Amino acid sequence: MAPDQDALKQQAAEAAVAMVESGMVLGLGYGSTALLAVRHLAKQVQAGELTDVVGVACALAMDEEARRLGLTVSTLEEHPVVDLTIDGADEVDPELNLIKGGGGALLREKVVAQASRREVIIVDESKLSPQLGTNWALPVEVVPFAARPVADFAASLGGVAALRLTDEGLPFVTDQGNHILDCDFGPMDDPAAIARALEGRAGVVEHGLFLGLATQVIVAGADGVRILER
Ligand code: A5P
Repeated sequence: MAPDQDALKQQAAEAAVAMVESGMVLGLGYGSTALLAVRHLAKQVQAGELTDVVGVACALAMDEEARRLGLTVSTLEEHPVVDLTIDGADEVDPELNLIKGGGGALLREKVVAQASRREVIIVDESKLSPQLGTNWALPVEVVPFAARPVADFAASLGGVAALRLTDEGLPFVTDQGNHILDCDFGPMDDPAAIARALEGRAGVVEHGLFLGLATQVIVAGADGVRILER
């Protein structure tokens, strides 16, 4: 029987934790796959197989969870250079460019990625895509005041924007108190151009295009685990 998606995520998570060495500063990503990695990491620390690792979390919820699991968690103020970040992704293209932000933590995830020597992405093979935007709308974090004009701007670029809502029907609020527009561009011919346009627009805090940031992508699939390198 083919392994299910959770089993694949677990395999990718364990392969990433195998790259961790004692003494490292680790970026702790966000999402269900990153959570599996943090849980596995905590087990290794508890067992004494890894020592002196310090985590910097990409989301307040992950900060809390990592502390609950007994990991040492710090800040970028204390540890501005991160040795290795382990994070998930929503979509991965053949150049290892990513769409991230399905969990709403894209801003902190990108800050930590840019502060990292190595950004290791862990996915099951369903996340691989020929072109970014094929399977996932692009999350764009906006200050609430600017949600409507940024949605209109995304439309002018060819993206259909929807304000992300909670299960209760209220606007989703990020760790920074902002909102998220999920912008459906369809397959993107030129993601860098979309990234640049969004970065130049007032009210956009960050977008979920991670271009040139992943150093390795660990993909777990029916045929096993492989590591894609930039
Ligand atoms: C969180 O904001 C995201 O970038 C996640 O890393 C991404 O959504 C992947 O999540 P899963 O591992 O839950 O699929």
